[in-house]
Amino acid sequence: MPTTCRIDDLSPSERELIAHALRARENAHAPYSRFSVGAALRAADGTVHLGCNVEISSYGLTECAERVALFAARATGAREFDALAVAGPDSSGRPTPPCGACRQVIWDLAGDISVYLASAAGEVQVWRAKELLPEPFGPAHLEEYS
Ligand code: THU
Repeated sequence: MPTTCRIDDLSPSERELIAHALRARENAHAPYSRFSVGAALRAADGTVHLGCNVEISSYGLTECAERVALFAARATGAREFDALAVAGPDSSGRPTPPCGACRQVIWDLAGDISVYLASAAGEVQVWRAKELLPEPFGPAHLEEYS
């Protein structure tokens, strides 16, 4: 289960990562759902990689904020990560949980990192990636076949 807290209870580096996710959210392209999401992924060397959801008129081509951040990080050469912050809309006051597809991509590319789910209202849930995807399928299952 996650730890739930207020953003003010977190360390400066955690708050900064969430602030990055909130800013990335402003770049979301969500004309169809109007559900804007931002993500910020911190690499082991401290660099932060941003993502936002990008919706496409052929809806199935839409990319979630988390995957955009993970793929962008990978493309710049980052390989080790320690934390991901996700900021969704705050109409419900609840943090936005990553969808199932994003949970798999987080696990494959970043492993058991900390995941901060923040609402703009200031509530934060802190998860481990493994809690979000129990009994994960992953690269290890394919090793003997490659
Ligand atoms: N979305 C994300 O970007 N991340 C999530 O964690 C959940 C959903 C996006 C996809 C789509 O653009 C919109 O939110 C509504 O599903």
